[in-house]
Amino acid sequence: AHHLPDILSPEFAANPYPAYAEMREKEPLIWHEATQSYIISRYEDVERVFKDKKAEFTTDNYNWQLEPVHGKTILQLSGREHAVRRALVAPAFRGSDLQQKFLPVIERNSRELIDAFRHTGSADIVNDYATRFPVNVIADMLGLDKADHARFHGWYTAVIAFLGNLSGDPEVAAAGERTRVEFAEYMLPVIRERRANPGDDLLSTLCAAEVDGVRMSDEDIKAFCSLLLAAGGETTDKAIAGILANLLSHPDQLAAVRADRSLIPAAFAETLRYTPPVQMIMRQSATDVEVTGGTIPAGATVTCLIGAANRDERRYRDPDRFDIFRDDLATTSAFSAAAGHLAFALGRHFCVGALLAKAEVEVGLNQLLDAMPDLRLADGHDLVEQGVFTRGPKTLPVRFTPVTA
Ligand code: HEM
Repeated sequence: AHHLPDILSPEFAANPYPAYAEMREKEPLIWHEATQSYIISRYEDVERVFKDKKAEFTTDNYNWQLEPVHGKTILQLSGREHAVRRALVAPAFRGSDLQQKFLPVIERNSRELIDAFRHTGSADIVNDYATRFPVNVIADMLGLDKADHARFHGWYTAVIAFLGNLSGDPEVAAAGERTRVEFAEYMLPVIRERRANPGDDLLSTLCAAEVDGVRMSDEDIKAFCSLLLAAGGETTDKAIAGILANLLSHPDQLAAVRADRSLIPAAFAETLRYTPPVQMIMRQSATDVEVTGGTIPAGATVTCLIGAANRDERRYRDPDRFDIFRDDLATTSAFSAAAGHLAFALGRHFCVGALLAKAEVEVGLNQLLDAMPDLRLADGHDLVEQGVFTRGPKTLPVRFTPVTA
């Protein structure tokens, strides 16, 4: 009997992609003892679970994955309750709200971070930029005091540690629950204050939102803000570091993007396919379900390997090649099911923030390229990725001619 690498092993953490290929080929359905879940890896199977045309899956797994750290979020909801909640929050992340209110926030927060290092000639794009930019954007969108951004960043770190705790370390779990309490103590008074004195910010928009006579409670809004730390922060953080790492290791493609910035959306889509920030998400089966390789019984947890599905040779030509010019990846609309990859999932829970993420990466990459005309990796630096549940470059030390003007 062959042994596939375990998703919790150090070999897998070092580089999951060879293991993903073996799983797709040899064992597209695996029972995994340690996570008590069925693992699926082929594009066709993962896509089918996400689309869930026949309502065979629920997101009940989030009751234990998310609830202890966030409370009840949109991801745990289903059916009409979910549809209404989604309609309450989604408009804030697209269209005129995004373009008019939040684009300036995105531009300002990116510029502030770049201004802090552009005179020095060196930076670690992960620590000096990517881990700060999206979470600062969210704090700023919500209209939180600048003085509180550091605390917000601390909660962000604790939340992602909790979510990445696949092996169930009890200390990390306890820290996550403390974060929920602290976050509520901070956030609930801010929400009450904002209801009394609404402004032009995201929090005021969420307080006022109403669909079919339904509004969000203070607790609902607090849980949504908490979810934004991870859903909107960590993911976009890894997408920005990822797009830059992929381009730096493919200098011809970097040169093409530098010369023609209209290639950035294609580079973004290809980065999400090739190195998806969220490598896996789970579902719960509501009935017996046939997938490639066998039957998943009702009531089981299913681990959907986005990172594996996005490199399925049945779906993409030469899937292990990073190529922003590939023509088997449609990039016309981030909200279309034909977006061409599974990094934002599909179906009912398709990422609410996809257009916000796209805007952040486009603004961020444009500003970074403008500020650093001869941007290059620090001499001798080998790119190393980290993370199993979410994944991205560990560090990204770069050099460039400092701008002194
Ligand atoms: C949902 C990925 C950016 C907010 C999701 C899901 C994925 C995902 C895979 C589906 C989860 C599931 O079906 O179980 C990403 C990636 C991002 C990103 C890769 C960056 C490149 C953002 C941003 C926001 C956001 C910037 C901020 C608004 C959400 C929310 C949901 C979600 C609220 C839940 C939607 C629902 O349950 O209906 N995201 N996300 N995401 N995302 Fe994102």
